[in-house]
Amino acid sequence: MQPDDIVVDEQTFVPAELFREAMSRLGAPVTVVATDGPAGRQGLTVSAITSVSDTPPTVLVCLNRSNRSHEAFRRNGVVGISILGRGHDDVAGVFASSRRTPEEKFASGVWRVGKTGAPLLDDAAVTLDCVIEDIRTSGTHDVLFCAVRDIVISDAVAAGLAWCGRTFHHLPFAPLAASLKVENTV
Ligand SMILES: Cc1cc2nc3c(=O)[nH]c(=O)nc-3n(C[C@H](O)[C@H](O)[C@H](O)COP(=O)(O)O)c2cc1C
Repeated sequence: MQPDDIVVDEQTFVPAELFREAMSRLGAPVTVVATDGPAGRQGLTVSAITSVSDTPPTVLVCLNRSNRSHEAFRRNGVVGISILGRGHDDVAGVFASSRRTPEEKFASGVWRVGKTGAPLLDDAAVTLDCVIEDIRTSGTHDVLFCAVRDIVISDAVAAGLAWCGRTFHHLPFAPLAASLKVENTV
Protein backbone atom coordinates (compact mmCIF):
# COMPACT_ATOMS: atom_id res chain seq x y z
CA MET A 1 0.00 0.00 0.00
CA GLN A 2 1.42 3.42 -1.03
CA PRO A 3 0.58 6.80 0.55
CA ASP A 4 -2.00 8.76 -1.51
CA ASP A 5 0.50 11.35 -2.77
CA ILE A 6 2.85 8.76 -4.35
CA VAL A 7 2.08 8.03 -8.01
CA VAL A 8 2.84 4.38 -8.84
CA ASP A 9 3.05 3.12 -12.43
CA GLU A 10 0.30 0.49 -12.76
CA GLN A 11 2.48 -1.88 -14.79
CA THR A 12 5.80 -1.73 -12.90
CA PHE A 13 4.63 -0.74 -9.38
CA VAL A 14 7.61 1.67 -9.29
CA PRO A 15 6.75 5.16 -7.96
CA ALA A 16 7.64 7.86 -10.53
CA GLU A 17 9.26 9.93 -7.75
CA LEU A 18 11.57 7.01 -6.84
CA PHE A 19 12.47 6.53 -10.52
CA ARG A 20 13.31 10.24 -10.92
CA GLU A 21 15.51 10.15 -7.79
CA ALA A 22 17.33 7.06 -9.09
CA MET A 23 17.92 8.71 -12.49
CA SER A 24 19.18 11.91 -10.82
CA ARG A 25 22.15 9.83 -9.61
CA LEU A 26 23.01 8.69 -13.13
CA GLY A 27 25.74 11.04 -14.38
CA ALA A 28 24.74 12.54 -17.73
CA PRO A 29 26.01 14.90 -20.43
CA VAL A 30 24.64 18.42 -20.78
CA THR A 31 23.72 19.58 -24.28
CA VAL A 32 21.54 22.16 -25.94
CA VAL A 33 19.44 20.54 -28.66
CA ALA A 34 18.02 23.00 -31.19
CA THR A 35 16.10 23.08 -34.44
CA ASP A 36 15.08 25.59 -37.12
CA GLY A 37 13.02 25.50 -40.29
CA PRO A 38 9.38 25.95 -41.35
CA ALA A 39 8.18 25.38 -37.76
CA GLY A 40 10.55 28.00 -36.35
CA ARG A 41 13.65 28.06 -34.16
CA GLN A 42 13.46 26.24 -30.82
CA GLY A 43 15.92 24.77 -28.34
CA LEU A 44 16.17 23.20 -24.91
CA THR A 45 18.69 21.69 -22.51
CA VAL A 46 18.93 17.91 -22.89
CA SER A 47 20.79 15.21 -20.95
CA ALA A 48 19.01 12.19 -22.41
CA ILE A 49 21.31 11.78 -25.39
CA THR A 50 23.60 8.91 -26.30
CA SER A 51 25.68 7.51 -29.11
CA VAL A 52 23.96 4.69 -31.00
CA SER A 53 26.31 3.74 -33.84
CA ASP A 54 29.44 5.03 -35.59
CA THR A 55 28.46 3.41 -38.92
CA PRO A 56 26.46 5.34 -39.85
CA PRO A 57 27.13 7.98 -37.17
CA THR A 58 23.90 8.09 -35.16
CA VAL A 59 22.81 9.51 -31.81
CA LEU A 60 19.51 9.32 -30.00
CA VAL A 61 17.82 12.16 -28.16
CA CYS A 62 14.84 11.76 -25.79
CA LEU A 63 12.37 14.66 -25.80
CA ASN A 64 9.32 15.06 -23.61
CA ARG A 65 6.28 15.45 -25.86
CA SER A 66 4.94 18.13 -23.50
CA ASN A 67 7.88 20.46 -24.29
CA ARG A 68 6.80 23.63 -26.11
CA SER A 69 9.51 22.94 -28.68
CA HIS A 70 8.43 19.40 -29.41
CA GLU A 71 6.39 19.86 -32.58
CA ALA A 72 9.10 22.04 -34.15
CA PHE A 73 11.61 19.17 -34.02
CA ARG A 74 9.18 16.80 -35.70
CA ARG A 75 8.26 19.28 -38.42
CA ASN A 76 11.71 20.77 -39.13
CA GLY A 77 13.43 17.37 -39.26
CA VAL A 78 16.86 18.78 -38.35
CA VAL A 79 18.65 18.86 -35.00
CA GLY A 80 21.71 20.78 -33.86
CA ILE A 81 23.35 19.23 -30.81
CA SER A 82 25.76 21.45 -28.88
CA ILE A 83 27.71 19.50 -26.26
CA LEU A 84 28.43 21.94 -23.44
CA GLY A 85 31.63 22.48 -21.49
CA ARG A 86 33.05 24.50 -18.63
CA GLY A 87 31.56 28.00 -18.67
CA HIS A 88 28.24 26.95 -20.20
CA ASP A 89 26.30 26.54 -16.94
CA ASP A 90 24.35 29.75 -17.67
CA VAL A 91 23.41 28.70 -21.22
CA ALA A 92 22.23 25.34 -19.87
CA GLY A 93 20.10 27.11 -17.26
CA VAL A 94 18.52 29.48 -19.79
CA PHE A 95 17.62 26.70 -22.26
CA ALA A 96 16.10 24.63 -19.43
CA SER A 97 13.73 27.47 -18.52
CA SER A 98 10.06 26.77 -19.24
CA ARG A 99 9.29 30.50 -19.07
CA ARG A 100 11.71 31.93 -21.64
CA THR A 101 10.71 32.41 -25.26
CA PRO A 102 12.92 31.04 -28.06
CA GLU A 103 14.12 34.62 -28.72
CA GLU A 104 15.18 35.00 -25.08
CA LYS A 105 16.90 31.62 -25.10
CA PHE A 106 18.93 32.25 -28.27
CA ALA A 107 20.04 35.66 -26.91
CA SER A 108 22.24 33.55 -24.62
CA GLY A 109 25.43 32.53 -26.42
CA VAL A 110 26.58 33.03 -30.01
CA TRP A 111 24.79 30.81 -32.55
CA ARG A 112 25.73 29.75 -36.06
CA VAL A 113 23.69 27.87 -38.65
CA GLY A 114 24.80 24.32 -39.47
CA LYS A 115 24.80 22.73 -42.93
CA THR A 116 21.38 21.20 -42.21
CA GLY A 117 20.02 24.61 -41.12
CA ALA A 118 20.02 23.66 -37.44
CA PRO A 119 21.34 26.14 -34.82
CA LEU A 120 24.73 25.31 -33.23
CA LEU A 121 26.41 27.04 -30.27
CA ASP A 122 29.59 28.61 -31.63
CA ASP A 123 31.81 27.93 -28.60
CA ALA A 124 30.41 24.49 -27.68
CA ALA A 125 32.86 21.72 -26.82
CA VAL A 126 31.43 19.74 -29.75
CA THR A 127 28.65 20.34 -32.25
CA LEU A 128 26.77 17.61 -34.10
CA ASP A 129 24.70 18.75 -37.07
CA CYS A 130 21.99 16.13 -37.66
CA VAL A 131 18.89 15.12 -39.56
CA ILE A 132 16.14 13.09 -37.88
CA GLU A 133 16.00 9.60 -39.40
CA ASP A 134 13.40 7.98 -37.16
CA ILE A 135 11.17 8.79 -34.18
CA ARG A 136 9.90 6.19 -31.68
CA THR A 137 7.50 6.94 -28.86
CA SER A 138 8.00 5.59 -25.33
CA GLY A 139 5.88 6.74 -22.40
CA THR A 140 5.94 10.53 -22.10
CA HIS A 141 8.88 10.92 -24.51
CA ASP A 142 9.76 10.67 -28.18
CA VAL A 143 13.13 9.11 -29.00
CA LEU A 144 14.72 10.83 -32.01
CA PHE A 145 17.28 8.83 -33.99
CA CYS A 146 19.55 11.45 -35.53
CA ALA A 147 22.00 10.90 -38.40
CA VAL A 148 25.10 13.04 -37.84
CA ARG A 149 25.98 15.03 -40.98
CA ASP A 150 28.72 17.27 -39.62
CA ILE A 151 30.94 17.44 -36.53
CA VAL A 152 33.02 20.29 -35.10
CA ILE A 153 35.25 19.65 -32.08
CA SER A 154 36.71 22.67 -30.27
CA ASP A 155 40.15 22.37 -28.75
CA ALA A 156 39.52 25.59 -26.80
CA VAL A 157 37.17 23.93 -24.29
CA ALA A 158 39.19 22.17 -21.59
CA ALA A 159 36.41 20.41 -19.67
CA GLY A 160 33.01 18.90 -20.35
CA LEU A 161 29.84 19.74 -18.44
CA ALA A 162 28.08 16.89 -16.64
CA TRP A 163 24.79 16.69 -14.71
CA CYS A 164 24.68 14.46 -11.62
CA GLY A 165 22.79 14.80 -8.33
CA ARG A 166 20.80 17.70 -9.89
CA THR A 167 23.93 19.86 -10.14
CA PHE A 168 26.63 20.63 -12.72
CA HIS A 169 30.14 19.13 -12.63
CA HIS A 170 33.19 19.75 -14.82
CA LEU A 171 35.15 16.83 -16.27
CA PRO A 172 38.53 17.50 -17.96
CA PHE A 173 39.08 16.45 -21.59
CA ALA A 174 42.28 14.85 -22.87
CA PRO A 175 44.00 17.08 -25.47
CA LEU A 176 42.58 16.74 -28.99
CA ALA A 177 44.76 14.68 -31.37
CA ALA A 178 46.34 16.87 -34.07
CA SER A 179 44.78 14.70 -36.82
CA LEU A 180 41.29 15.56 -35.56
CA LYS A 181 41.71 19.35 -35.36
CA VAL A 182 39.62 19.85 -38.47
CA GLU A 183 35.94 19.93 -39.34
CA ASN A 184 34.76 16.36 -39.98
CA THR A 185 31.97 16.06 -42.52
CA VAL A 186 30.36 12.65 -42.88
C1 LIG B 1 20.31 19.28 -16.95
C2 LIG B 1 18.95 19.17 -17.61
C3 LIG B 1 18.71 18.13 -18.50
C4 LIG B 1 17.48 18.01 -19.17
N1 LIG B 1 17.29 16.97 -20.03
C5 LIG B 1 16.13 16.87 -20.72
C6 LIG B 1 15.95 15.83 -21.67
O1 LIG B 1 16.80 14.97 -21.86
N2 LIG B 1 14.78 15.80 -22.38
C7 LIG B 1 13.79 16.73 -22.19
O2 LIG B 1 12.74 16.64 -22.86
N3 LIG B 1 13.92 17.73 -21.27
C8 LIG B 1 15.08 17.81 -20.55
N4 LIG B 1 15.24 18.83 -19.65
C9 LIG B 1 14.15 19.78 -19.40
C10 LIG B 1 14.01 20.84 -20.50
O3 LIG B 1 15.25 21.48 -20.77
C11 LIG B 1 12.99 21.89 -20.04
O4 LIG B 1 11.77 21.25 -19.75
C12 LIG B 1 12.75 23.01 -21.05
O5 LIG B 1 12.08 24.06 -20.38
C13 LIG B 1 11.93 22.61 -22.25
O6 LIG B 1 11.86 23.74 -23.09
P1 LIG B 1 10.62 24.05 -24.06
O7 LIG B 1 9.38 23.88 -23.26
O8 LIG B 1 10.87 25.45 -24.54
O9 LIG B 1 10.69 23.06 -25.19
C14 LIG B 1 16.47 18.96 -18.95
C15 LIG B 1 16.70 20.01 -18.03
C16 LIG B 1 17.92 20.11 -17.39
C17 LIG B 1 18.17 21.26 -16.41
